[in-house]
Amino acid sequence: MSTYTEDQRKVTTRRLTEMKMRGEKIAMLTAYDYSMAKLIDEAGMDVILVGDSASNVMAGNITTLPITLDQMIYHAKSVIKGVNRALVVCDLPFGSYQGNSKEALASAIRIMKESHAEAVKMEGGAEIRESIERVLSAGIPVMGHLGLTPQSINKFGTYAVRAKEEAEAQKLIEDAKMLEEIGCFAIVLEKIPADLATKVAQMVSVPIIGIGAGGGVDGQVLVMHDMLGINKGFSPRFLRRYADLATIINDAVAHYIDDVKTCDFPNEKEQY
Ligand code: KIV
Repeated sequence: MSTYTEDQRKVTTRRLTEMKMRGEKIAMLTAYDYSMAKLIDEAGMDVILVGDSASNVMAGNITTLPITLDQMIYHAKSVIKGVNRALVVCDLPFGSYQGNSKEALASAIRIMKESHAEAVKMEGGAEIRESIERVLSAGIPVMGHLGLTPQSINKFGTYAVRAKEEAEAQKLIEDAKMLEEIGCFAIVLEKIPADLATKVAQMVSVPIIGIGAGGGVDGQVLVMHDMLGINKGFSPRFLRRYADLATIINDAVAHYIDDVKTCDFPNEKEQY
């Protein structure tokens, strides 16, 4: 079963805007390595995000903060090799762009030059405007990210829903308008009330990609390990699991161990 487009042309930032204009939803998923990126691209994904969630699901860290620029470039380089159609966006990691726009530009240029990713994502609004503008000025497309921004988890102190209060909701709206005005090509809204996300999506012309932001936005993003059921320890309300790979992998590996121990593997046909 598939409803994805037969259009095999390369997805570009411009095509995402066209999709929003004609009301076609945008599908985005994370990937961190060549083999999974290839499968995800072949399935028809529009955007592949090399997320700094690699810090959690690939490196086993509790937060996204420890991952480095070099590590993000390594992941993005691997992903790019497996992708033909999807637009590949790479997260700028914590500490590589906040508070210093020259450093932001240098970090974004390294990602583009060394990994060949096609855009970067940066978390935050007015506080990082100068950094975003500097990156944009070099012709590097920027995807914004507002709401629950995991790189600021130590400031928030909780992964609870953001912007439930009027003041924070108002700031989020102002930030989204600002990101549109300075030239971001899309904005991720994470874990905010659905009504607010819908309002923002109607207010701005750039595509709004939601995660835990309801169905009134222009597209959805999930972390691959969560939606495939590899990472079963994470079950927020917004997550839909499309597979139980943890069980499949566990059973397959247990079967292999059993076959080795009982001398069932390899058999005569499986040797030279
Ligand atoms: O790093 C990531 O995976 C992300 C998504 C949750 C949007 O930023």
